Amino acid sequence: MRIGIIGPMEEEVSLLQAAFTIKEEQVIGGRTYLVGSYHDHEVVLVKSGIGKVCAATAACVLVNTFKVDAVVNSGCAGSISDQLKIGDIVLSTKLAYQDFDLTIFGYQRGQVPSYEQYFEADHALVAKAEAVAAKLKSEGKFKTPGTSALQIVTGTVLTGDQFISQKAQSLAMKEFFHEAQMVEMEGAAVAQVCTDFKVPCLVIRSASDTASGESPEDFNEFVQLAADNSATLLLALIDAL
Ligand code: ADE
Repeated sequence: MRIGIIGPMEEEVSLLQAAFTIKEEQVIGGRTYLVGSYHDHEVVLVKSGIGKVCAATAACVLVNTFKVDAVVNSGCAGSISDQLKIGDIVLSTKLAYQDFDLTIFGYQRGQVPSYEQYFEADHALVAKAEAVAAKLKSEGKFKTPGTSALQIVTGTVLTGDQFISQKAQSLAMKEFFHEAQMVEMEGAAVAQVCTDFKVPCLVIRSASDTASGESPEDFNEFVQLAADNSATLLLALIDAL
């Protein structure tokens, strides 16, 4: 199986890059695609850059040039759930754009015409990731900033071209997307491309902040911890495929 992996920032690809055996590098559209292997699987890893267009372009190349069988987007996010703290992990079941709005024409918030409001992640990938995550958690493989037990949930991830740093923004989003757990800047774009090309996809995110007033400082402090939690899970998931 050939797995395409997208991490937006250096912190989100570093642990993966160190774990993979890289055989070849290809630069396409200014991004470097690292082609290699991890145990029994072929992998293609790309640092996409931040935001929806960067992520969508990277996903398109992974699918159409590298012919990957699945795409996983790994990294950090802001928690918009009162229950989820820094370090906690969400496995996307559904993804939507929090900043796409044609409600004035009768569409649902986030809904792109000719699509549903939510893009779906691949159910089998979510189930496998859940099982792997539970095992890693029991082995104490994830990090948290404090002493509280790490939580792993499946749920809704929201995407937009904004870093969310005010509680009012998080609360406004939850009015339209009641069950949303985390917000980030790439996942739904990856899922939309994967929907177009009928390629299974999964978004794994660990919270670097709580999408509130402390977010810029928390993000800087915990981006690596969160990115590593997500990457640790992804490596074990690849092993389980
Ligand atoms: N990625 C990590 N934290 C985020 C936040 N607060 N808003 C958007 N994307 C994020």
